Amino acid sequence: LPAPHARAGSDRPTVIAHRGASAYAPENTLAAVDKAAELGIAWVENDVQRTKDGELVVLHDDNLKRTTDVEELFPGRAPWKVKDFTAAEIARLDAGSWFSPAYAGARVPTLEQFMDRMELHHQKLLLEIKNPDLYPGIEQQTLKVLANEGWLDRSHLARRLIVQSFSADSVRTVHKLKPAVKTGFLGTPSVADLPRYAAFADQINPSHGSISMGYVASVHYYTGPHGRPLEVFTWTVNDADAARLAADYGVDGIITNSPDVVRDALPDD
Ligand code: G3P
Ligand code: CA
Repeated sequence: LPAPHARAGSDRPTVIAHRGASAYAPENTLAAVDKAAELGIAWVENDVQRTKDGELVVLHDDNLKRTTDVEELFPGRAPWKVKDFTAAEIARLDAGSWFSPAYAGARVPTLEQFMDRMELHHQKLLLEIKNPDLYPGIEQQTLKVLANEGWLDRSHLARRLIVQSFSADSVRTVHKLKPAVKTGFLGTPSVADLPRYAAFADQINPSHGSISMGYVASVHYYTGPHGRPLEVFTWTVNDADAARLAADYGVDGIITNSPDVVRDALPDD
């Protein structure tokens, strides 16, 4: 391979708060967005799914058990899948107590509520479309919400929004529907497959245990749909040593539950 592209722009990887600053506040809640802002972290990652009545909400798991009191409130509704509950029902759940009593009463936010809070802090969104196979049409619907919220204007598109998924089909669909949106594929495709992904993804976002300096260089070698080298945002890196190693590998972004720890571990520009 020819010489790899270096990190674009800065020599410091971008730090992304995973599900918000989720080491310090309940994941994917407005409190976790606020905590990221308080730490001075601009980028926030989240997970988007759909309710029974078609509302997009921010939650990681496809069921509500781990991070809410759904079993207590709706004992007869096993297996407590997001897709089997209405937005009004989900809005009643406590999504904070499982994390700490200090966050009792935190709610599962809608995507609109989540983005409104981010807009308030002037943050940047790495939006993950979760389990798209469960939610036909979620790509189009997500783009509609983004448009309604004003996140598809020129400045958001250029600097403040990336849409990613573990589903290549979903990423390809987002790219086809709205080519101006920057996209990421979550996973570690073989180097031989990278050209295929470069047709519709601007980023290849692998788990940090799955990469090497050579792999990152290979990804950087290819040009994405917007004419720039493919970027690498790796996850989920929660300690200083792992963050420094990822930075040495040349990644462009580090997705972390503890964004302050990662930021403080990275060498200055
Ligand atoms: O953004 C990367 C990371 O969030 C992917 O894994 O399971 O935390 O959604 P997961
Ligand atoms: Ca995620």
